Amino acid sequence: MVVLREGMCPGLDADLVRDLRAADVKTVEDLVSSDTEDLAQKCSVSYRALFAIRRVLLAQHTAFPVSGADLYEELLSSTAILSTGNSSLDKLLDSGLYTGEITELSGGPGSGKSQVCFGVAVNISYHLKQSVIFIDTTGGLTARRLLQMLEAETSNREEQMEALQRIHIFRLFDVFSLLDCLYSLRTGMLQQASVGGGSVKAVIVDSVSAVIAPLLGGKQSEGMSLMTQVAGVLKTMAKDFNVAVLVTNHVTRSSSRVQPGLGVSWRHVPRTRILLERVEKAAAVSRSSMRSATLIKSSRQLCHKTEEFDLQRWCHSEGPSAKRKLEDMDS
Ligand SMILES: Nc1ncnc2c1ncn2[C@@H]1O[C@H](COP(=O)(O)OP(=O)(O)OP(=O)(O)O)[C@@H](O)[C@H]1O
Ligand SMILES: [Mg+2]
Repeated sequence: MVVLREGMCPGLDADLVRDLRAADVKTVEDLVSSDTEDLAQKCSVSYRALFAIRRVLLAQHTAFPVSGADLYEELLSSTAILSTGNSSLDKLLDSGLYTGEITELSGGPGSGKSQVCFGVAVNISYHLKQSVIFIDTTGGLTARRLLQMLEAETSNREEQMEALQRIHIFRLFDVFSLLDCLYSLRTGMLQQASVGGGSVKAVIVDSVSAVIAPLLGGKQSEGMSLMTQVAGVLKTMAKDFNVAVLVTNHVTRSSSRVQPGLGVSWRHVPRTRILLERVEKAAAVSRSSMRSATLIKSSRQLCHKTEEFDLQRWCHSEGPSAKRKLEDMDS
């Protein structure tokens, strides 16, 4: 689904995009599958002009085969790897979060999913100097915690504030608000959110399961359809805007095996999945902030690799090398 935007092709100006949206035509697919004559009347535009737009969009968006070499060139020029700021997670993720892809962190309550998301947001905004969209669906994010993490990085108040400005937070608590938010980000807000010279490089949704899981199960199919829409918009956002998408998911337990929630259909959505767990060691109260991260899905690395890290020592000085990685990809 490619969303119609002003300037995508000659003749598609802001007024026409607005009129098309009013006629419930939001994507290229909507436009090419509509009755052109009928739509031209609804939008008070000439049939010829709309037909020409339709023809250009069809040519632009029809699939053409590309060679493996071209695909590799495109990958090199468009993909960036964003360090998470945590060397253990970076190892599992083959250097960090890849733009254009969805990465999932799953884990039980208190396993550290949100803390990791905050750490990633801080690392991207402070070290990489890029903007981050943080969609908080659980109410877990606090400015105080972000500031605390930034204080561990720098004592310079101005730098802390600049980094905080690059983190754009949306608080919402149901799937309809999430879809609204994602659609508006895709139709332009993502570019508007680029502040202080940094473009938006990551979209974090903590947690995606909190708003989807309550709608699944039973005989209703609406939950599944909404989940598919969320998956679709996240995927196209990652690809079209070259951002890394990080989502969190809860876990379920079946026959004593812990596995990420949202079922089989969601399993195909993230390209990479990591399972976070507490490291429980007898009489090791001081190690209660230790977490293990296990790679459970990846197309780059062997799965079932596990790394341990201390949640409390999230912010350690990996800044310069992390920054270099992004610059290397950009150059
Ligand atoms: N300020 C802090 N400093 C260090 N560790 C903290 C801090 N706040 C919370 N934690 C640790 O993080 C854990 C909670 O992690 P977090 O909130 O990220 O879990 P979660 O996986 O997001 O859980 P849920 O599924 O309930 O959202 C706490 O058990 C605590 O050990
Ligand atoms: Mg949480």
